Amino acid sequence: MNKIPVAILGATGSVGQRFISLLNNHPWFEVAALAASDRSVGQRYSQAARWVLDVPMPAYAKEMIIVPASTEAVQARIVFSALHNEIAQELEPQFAKAGAAVCSNASSYRRAEDVPLLLPEVNADHIHLIQRQRSNKGWSGCIVANPNCTSAGLTVALKALDDAFGVKKVFAVSMQALSGAGYPGVSSMDMIDNVIPNINGEEEKVEWEPRKMLGNLVNGAIELADIQFSVHANRVAVLDGHTICASVKLSAAPPDVQTISQALCAYQAPAAARELPSAPAPAIHLRKEADRPQPRLDRLTGKGMTTVVGRVRKDPLLDIKFVVLSHNTIRGAAGGSIYNAELLVSQNLLMP
Ligand SMILES: NC(=O)c1ccc[n+]([C@@H]2O[C@H](COP(=O)([O-])OP(=O)(O)OC[C@H]3O[C@@H](n4cnc5c(N)ncnc54)[C@H](OP(=O)(O)O)[C@@H]3O)[C@@H](O)[C@H]2O)c1
Repeated sequence: MNKIPVAILGATGSVGQRFISLLNNHPWFEVAALAASDRSVGQRYSQAARWVLDVPMPAYAKEMIIVPASTEAVQARIVFSALHNEIAQELEPQFAKAGAAVCSNASSYRRAEDVPLLLPEVNADHIHLIQRQRSNKGWSGCIVANPNCTSAGLTVALKALDDAFGVKKVFAVSMQALSGAGYPGVSSMDMIDNVIPNINGEEEKVEWEPRKMLGNLVNGAIELADIQFSVHANRVAVLDGHTICASVKLSAAPPDVQTISQALCAYQAPAAARELPSAPAPAIHLRKEADRPQPRLDRLTGKGMTTVVGRVRKDPLLDIKFVVLSHNTIRGAAGGSIYNAELLVSQNLLMP
């Protein structure tokens, strides 16, 4: 198969670097263009990017010249967007209009009624919302969004519980990694020896996005899941990997911990999303140790795509409680976007 040309907008940033790394030798995709701000345009990627990943910069990217994030300069059938929200809001529709499938990490269009908010291992069928989007907007491309990086892992765990027992209420406290704030992110003077008990806009996102992803696609529209959320978001001095402590009220009388653990272990992605190159294997990894998951030890489970759950136990206020860990720049961002793009290709939803 000829590889599909793809582009990365915001290629020099925290998420952009993950794209560069994860697209190295991708079986279906070939990076044709790297775009960033005026600060970087015209420079070689190796000059423009301050590489912060703990894997080497792939050779293919080093000599590529950064171009502006415009439809004239970037020609690709799939455009991975690692842009900040205000810029994404303006540029992503331009690429969709030009016929590209835009796989976005920004929050700009997550709430749009005709934009799928996707975790393929949870709601692969929501991809078909793009038919409505194409007829609403009259464009041949599309915009497909990733959830916020904290919503990602939490929603995978909730999906397993919702399918098996029904979920009614969720109380969750996040401990979010520094890379989630981009580079250079939060000042070291603020972070060392500290926890920041606020991330702007984050709690509202995590209280709403899982409801869209766990909702049903009915007659071309998403019915939000009837689940109540209360979320506290905190920034902690961890490099990568968001940890979430969650307590959940189930719809029916709670089964024993062993039955709940079995449901989490047995959870599988829908068939359409199970065999794709970036599909997490397994979707959920359940740790039995009393002190796991931990970000430093467990964030790369399943190449960073697997949701790691541990400490499943009874909750005296709601029904059950557990800990979720998910890699924020892989499952929660670049890896998730690539998985979305693979789903688009496998469902023949790219324009020729
Ligand atoms: N970090 C995470 O864990 C995470 C997870 C999920 C979603 N997200 C979302 O992903 C997006 C990117 O986040 P990030 O953490 O990677 O940010 P970041 O490290 O600050 O990188 C921002 C990127 O955007 C580029 N850029 C800035 N202004 C631009 C413009 N006018 N035109 C074109 N490119 C421009 C920058 O290029 P220069 O280097 O040239 O300035 C850089 O490549 C955000 O919307 C964020 O909310 C992040």
